[in-house]
Amino acid sequence: MAASRETFGGKLAAVLAMAGSAIGLGNIWRFPYLVGQNGGAAFILVYLVACFVLALPIFFAEAVIGRRGGGNTFSAMEKLAPGSAWKWMGLITVAAPLLLLSYYSVVGGWSVDYLFKAVTLQFTGDTSGIFERFITSTWEPLAAHTVFMAFTAAVILAGVKNGIEKFTKITMPLLFLLIIVIVVYGLTLPGSWKGVEYLVRPDLSKINVNVIATAMGQAFFSLSLGVGTILTYASYMRKEDNVVAAGTYTALSDLLFALLAGFAVMPAVFAAGIQPGQGPGLVFDTLPYIFSQMHGAGTVVAILFFFSILIAALTSSISLLEVGVAYLVEEKGWSRKRSTLVLALASWALGVLCSLSFGPMAHVQLLGKGFFDFLDSLCSDWLMPLGGLLFTLFVGWRMSKADVRDELTNGGTCNKRIFGAVYILVRYLAPIGIAVVFLSNLLL
Ligand code: TRP
Repeated sequence: MAASRETFGGKLAAVLAMAGSAIGLGNIWRFPYLVGQNGGAAFILVYLVACFVLALPIFFAEAVIGRRGGGNTFSAMEKLAPGSAWKWMGLITVAAPLLLLSYYSVVGGWSVDYLFKAVTLQFTGDTSGIFERFITSTWEPLAAHTVFMAFTAAVILAGVKNGIEKFTKITMPLLFLLIIVIVVYGLTLPGSWKGVEYLVRPDLSKINVNVIATAMGQAFFSLSLGVGTILTYASYMRKEDNVVAAGTYTALSDLLFALLAGFAVMPAVFAAGIQPGQGPGLVFDTLPYIFSQMHGAGTVVAILFFFSILIAALTSSISLLEVGVAYLVEEKGWSRKRSTLVLALASWALGVLCSLSFGPMAHVQLLGKGFFDFLDSLCSDWLMPLGGLLFTLFVGWRMSKADVRDELTNGGTCNKRIFGAVYILVRYLAPIGIAVVFLSNLLL
């Protein structure tokens, strides 16, 4: 089977696809509002540490399993630990991405709809209540969710090389360019420097356990960890590629992009005299107001902005769908087309419930949460940390150190000096850090 598997065309392609998965709604939509809710620069500081001490080791763990095992979570685990129960971890990694995709596609749909709103000049007049009206309605968000899922399925149908690789190679550089244009524009607004200050001058008294746990959770989400996405992508990497370098570049570009998104949003928020701690509505509620205040240029900036979110979301959603498709194709012998259509449809159906949970189905609650929030919490607070914990335990304690070294150093040809430190992070620090996330989710 190994011979027939597709691989990425090279290291750049692999990094772009991984960065494409990492950079998404987590960066543009989630990161800015979390910064606003958790104390600005202080949160960013904690987030930096969480990325490199907690998240990156998990990335390495997944990459080691994926490339060495040469397959999806089931087959990779079965190959590395034959006959053990570890392969059943595959269940988390097939289910969690599909659950995630269902509500991710709903927010992806919001960006489709907002792009449409921007193009049709709907951000020029009074925008108050625009987000509330939109998400509580029935058909408009559903239609947008459907369009977003259809785009996602179309890229996956085209395959790894022609679909994922081509798409991300074109869109990722474009995305950086667009966001930089928006940042530069935002900085020209009068009063925007207050937003810059908010992002760079940390008030350390704002740091508490909750802020730390939130930052760790965000690092997980943003780097696409714990649910086998990175594992699956790493299995498409060639043996001669350096996974430590790929992980580091991915984490750096993900971080850079989150910061750029922060600088695209916060200065504009401060310039408009709006409170930064709005929560999830920050991008979809606050920004349209700001765009409407910019007169002529507002529409152009709005189009650029929501187009950027849409691209970023798509390169992530395709990675979510690919995990399940790889599983069905390789383990169950399904065709790529059938796997894609069945999984996209299942995820779409769940997404319908998520979308409706803001409006007509708001009264249906699971454990005190609407369907959307329930799935988000299930994935971000539980399944991803659980997956991350098991991956690091597997690599740190179940695999032999010699095998891990062989994989991370490409048979002793690179990363020899840093291997010791990386190994300690994977074996000790990351599992302890994840345990902290768990405990705080349980207790807080
Ligand atoms: N990282 C993406 C974002 O920030 C979301 C994502 C894609 C993801 N694939 C994932 C999150 C796998 C967790 C696991 O938007």
